[in-house]
Amino acid sequence: MTAGLLLKMVGFCAWALFWLGGSAIVSTSAGAAVAGGESVVVDARSAIATTDETFICATLDWWPPEKCDYAPAPGAAPPFSTCTYQGSSKPLVIAPAGFFDAAWFTELVGKTKPNQLDVITHHIYNLGPGVDNHLIEKILNPSYLDGMVSTFSNLQGILKSAGTSAVPWVGEAGGAYNSGHHLVTDAFVFSFWYLDQLGMSSKYDTKSYCRQTLIGGNYGLLNTTTFEPNPDYYSALLWHRLMGTKEGVTLLLINLSGNNTNHIYVTSEGSQAQSSRKEGRGFSNIPGFGEAVELTREEYHLTPKDGKLQSQQVLLNGILLGTDSNGDIPKLEPVQMEGTLPITVAPYSIAFAHIPSFYAPACR
Ligand SMILES: *[C@@H]1O[C@H](CO)[C@@H](O)[C@H](O)[C@H]1NC(C)=O
Ligand SMILES: *[C@@H]1O[C@H](CO)[C@@H](O)[C@H](O)[C@H]1NC(C)=O
Ligand SMILES: *[C@@H]1O[C@H](CO)[C@@H](O)[C@H](O)[C@H]1NC(C)=O
Repeated sequence: MTAGLLLKMVGFCAWALFWLGGSAIVSTSAGAAVAGGESVVVDARSAIATTDETFICATLDWWPPEKCDYAPAPGAAPPFSTCTYQGSSKPLVIAPAGFFDAAWFTELVGKTKPNQLDVITHHIYNLGPGVDNHLIEKILNPSYLDGMVSTFSNLQGILKSAGTSAVPWVGEAGGAYNSGHHLVTDAFVFSFWYLDQLGMSSKYDTKSYCRQTLIGGNYGLLNTTTFEPNPDYYSALLWHRLMGTKEGVTLLLINLSGNNTNHIYVTSEGSQAQSSRKEGRGFSNIPGFGEAVELTREEYHLTPKDGKLQSQQVLLNGILLGTDSNGDIPKLEPVQMEGTLPITVAPYSIAFAHIPSFYAPACR
């Protein structure tokens, strides 16, 4: 990522064989910054990681209101916690469900290899206590968010060098402990933290990411009183539907202000020749960017209601999302964009850009 580029990016592509259900992550990097824009280079020649079909996971932690007004301390067992997973009828052996500690996790993995442990889980509450008044500052600071990279990459390294078959999961992640913070961890602004976490963890081979919570506390995906989805519910749903489940590639772009970034051109690394041959077109030369992807995109832009980051309501492509009179989730419709146009991500907003005909050999 070039200095000053505050966009957070992660690229995903689908396996060609949909029944595999996994999704491969290909690397995206910021290319040259030229006046008027940036280029995102998608290297779709090889996958850097894959996630499970059940990557999007949520815990249940719903206390009777008279019992307690906050969730258990991180590390303590929640009263009821479920993570869905696929597989055989044999239950998975999952441990240790605590904060990551390199020395301790190394020892645990060493003593349980090669295959006594199926999943190694860790918890994430990297924003500190919910009562902190600086949560939003932390969430809007890309360097703060990137503070978790070392955890993900250390854990990946430990598993790799131990030669174990155990895979990493985030078993419980609520961001801010002691139940989060109303109008922060249940508002639009929290999608910056959440989607960044999903992107970052998936790049380091995390197979499932369990959000604290589906319902309960101030970090629920659903409103405890009305059961209406909070903004993060829609973020999770878009991720689940778009990342690795469709043909082509999908980019997730988060604009955390980005003062010197204008527009994004998507370029491809290594697959031009095949793509041009296959599609008969696909790339055009944009001055300063090299070969840009010319293929039609489907874009999903998320913004908060009235531009208020602490809103509990979210717009998709300018349309307010809410359940209908039957309680059904609305259709999440993209806007079609010409591939020659750059992707424009409004300040403090989120965009998923799906390019269906992007040729990605890594996804075969
Ligand atoms: C972006 O703006 C911030 C302050 O608003 C400044 O500190 C930073 O240097 C700017 N970055 C670039 C690359 O201009
Ligand atoms: C649930 O939704 C109502 C109505 O939109 C809102 O006033 C309330 O703040 C929400 N409750 C929580 C805990 O988010
Ligand atoms: C991100 O937002 C800034 C304003 O804060 C805007 O100038 C920039 O063009 C946006 N970036 C993209 C890629 O659209």
